[in-house]
Amino acid sequence: MSQDLSLRSLLGVTLLPQNEARILMAHVLDKHYQLPRSTLLSRDHMELNTQALEDWKAFEFKRLQGEPIAYLIGKRGFYSIELQVAPGVLIPRPETELLVEIGLRELKRIEKETAIPKVLDLGTGSGAIALAVAYETPSAIITATDQSSEALVIATANAETLGLAARVQFVQGSWYEALREQTLFDLILSNPPYIANDDPHLSQGDLRFEPISALTDRDSGLTCLEAIIQGALEHLKPMALIAVEHGFDQSEVVVSLMKGAGFHNIRSHQDLAGHHRVVSGQKLG
Ligand SMILES: C[S@@+](CC[C@H](N)C(=O)[O-])C[C@H]1O[C@@H](n2cnc3c(N)ncnc32)[C@H](O)[C@@H]1O
Repeated sequence: MSQDLSLRSLLGVTLLPQNEARILMAHVLDKHYQLPRSTLLSRDHMELNTQALEDWKAFEFKRLQGEPIAYLIGKRGFYSIELQVAPGVLIPRPETELLVEIGLRELKRIEKETAIPKVLDLGTGSGAIALAVAYETPSAIITATDQSSEALVIATANAETLGLAARVQFVQGSWYEALREQTLFDLILSNPPYIANDDPHLSQGDLRFEPISALTDRDSGLTCLEAIIQGALEHLKPMALIAVEHGFDQSEVVVSLMKGAGFHNIRSHQDLAGHHRVVSGQKLG
């Protein structure tokens, strides 16, 4: 008797959780047949051809080995945009949307006095923060940096796909060293590597597949945050804001780093789960 290769049967026997299996199968349907996800319901008797079946089995196997879904399907939604992602960049996280929200609120606050706000995103990865801010604020000009050339290739491709390349400039280098011009910014945003080198999470889940240089400073988890906060004053306009994402247990120390660097109006922001994940501070006038 021949094997039943219908969508219903393949999804029925998979060892993957159904929600994950459906995302991967929808990707196979799109890639091989340009069919929408609703096909999973409306044509669940449809049989996959040989190539599509091979692809499905490869995705299923890789996911069972722990590879992140975003890398398998090559994309991830973030804030109001969709980003191409690949193993060279961190997969953008929902937590980071809080940082974008704080940035957008600040841009709204200064919009009357600042016609063309200048924003700096340090450690841009896929371009997530820079591109979400650029997409939501058509007047803004963004400089986005990263040390990783692989990340910048992906971020540049994302900027082009989203039609934002004219307003987002990508530069390579370590934190502020990447900046070639003496520009003063209206806003600095950063989600740097903040996981401590000995944190066991680094060898668990999706993190095992992500670039280690995007996750940890190979030290206490605080060295990148420290470098970014300490260097910020000389790159900000008077009264301008910096906001940085940090680990769920780093809020107090990041607040003291901001105080030590001379920032005012220092605030700790909570995500939807009630965890303190972002600290912001303002340069004095
Ligand atoms: C946690 S990831 C954040 C990526 C992206 N901003 C996001 O939120 O999805 C940190 C990023 O900082 C970059 N990075 C690490 N060390 C750096 C350095 N010294 N200078 C600039 N970028 C660095 C990594 O390559 C990585 O892309």
